[in-house]
Amino acid sequence: MTAFQPRVFSGVQPTGNLHLGNYLGAVSRWVPLQDQMETIFCVVDLHAITASFPEQGELQSATREVTAAYMAAGIDPKKSIIFNQSQVRAHAELAWIFNCVARMGWLSRMTQFKEKAGKNRENASVGLFAYPNLMAADILAYRATHVPVGDDQKQHLELTRDIAQKFNNDFADRIKELGVGVPNPTPSPELPEELYFPITEPMITGPATRIMSLRDGTKKMSKSDPSDLSRINLTDDADSIAKKIRKAKTDPDALPSEIKGLEGRPEADNLVGIYAALAGHTKEEVLKDFGGEQFSAFKPALADLAVAKLAPLTKEMRRLTSDPAEIDRILKDGAEKAAAIADPILADVRKIIGFLDVA
Ligand code: TRP
Repeated sequence: MTAFQPRVFSGVQPTGNLHLGNYLGAVSRWVPLQDQMETIFCVVDLHAITASFPEQGELQSATREVTAAYMAAGIDPKKSIIFNQSQVRAHAELAWIFNCVARMGWLSRMTQFKEKAGKNRENASVGLFAYPNLMAADILAYRATHVPVGDDQKQHLELTRDIAQKFNNDFADRIKELGVGVPNPTPSPELPEELYFPITEPMITGPATRIMSLRDGTKKMSKSDPSDLSRINLTDDADSIAKKIRKAKTDPDALPSEIKGLEGRPEADNLVGIYAALAGHTKEEVLKDFGGEQFSAFKPALADLAVAKLAPLTKEMRRLTSDPAEIDRILKDGAEKAAAIADPILADVRKIIGFLDVA
């Protein structure tokens, strides 16, 4: 190979309900990439057991639901590989190897682990600590070059780059000897001339990558927030969407007519951002229309827009999830295609490390 093949990899965890933040911040942004390069979209079920093991049956329904959301949003199984992580062995195998590449110090600095483990670190699973190594394995098992994610995942992507870099350095001689490397596209003193793993580019796109809670504009919209009013789920009907927007926290002032006026007003900023993302406009354009208006006028307009945009999506999700066998068929096909890319990469990695090959 003379260059890394441009390839996108991204994923969402099948835990709880998918919400507006997942849709606007991630899945909807993947859709146009399908026409630009090879795209692989994964339902990361191995990541979904790091906090705790879900009840029997929950992983199955949540995995099908996320798959349906991908497709309802416009991810086309004819253009993209769609599969669930646990069905392709390469992820777990490469994650183990990366457990031995990454350093304790690197992982100890991950802010998401600190947040998720909270005060009770001693009781967090080892899997939660090693979560970012599995994410690096997801990406690098395909030697993916581009990873579209929300900005909360930036630190994990930097770790992925550090792992790739250390592997490329530590095994530079073997990679060359075996002839499995790719010329380093951006030569630098820190990296060898030939790389096995690409130094993946984060694609953190657009203004609405961060959709915040409807109850607290400083917290990310999250499926783990105990208040269902904090998020708009992709399974919510029109009435609940309207109700949640009506009840969304705001401040007493009218909307400003310029973006500067949103500073220090996280809830107002978030609602304007959601409107902008749903309408496909910039926040400036939204403020041109609504500057000077009270929330009592803006919220109904936002509710109407949200219902109009999300109703077709939720309807299509319901149609797709009513035929689980068809979803499973698509995932099976995707897993076969994914394994066809990842298995030879893992075979290279075993050779590079130097395991005795008895096949
Ligand atoms: N950690 C990501 C999140 O919580 C999900 C994820 C797992 C992922 N593996 C990935 C995203 C690989 C991009 C690439 O959003």
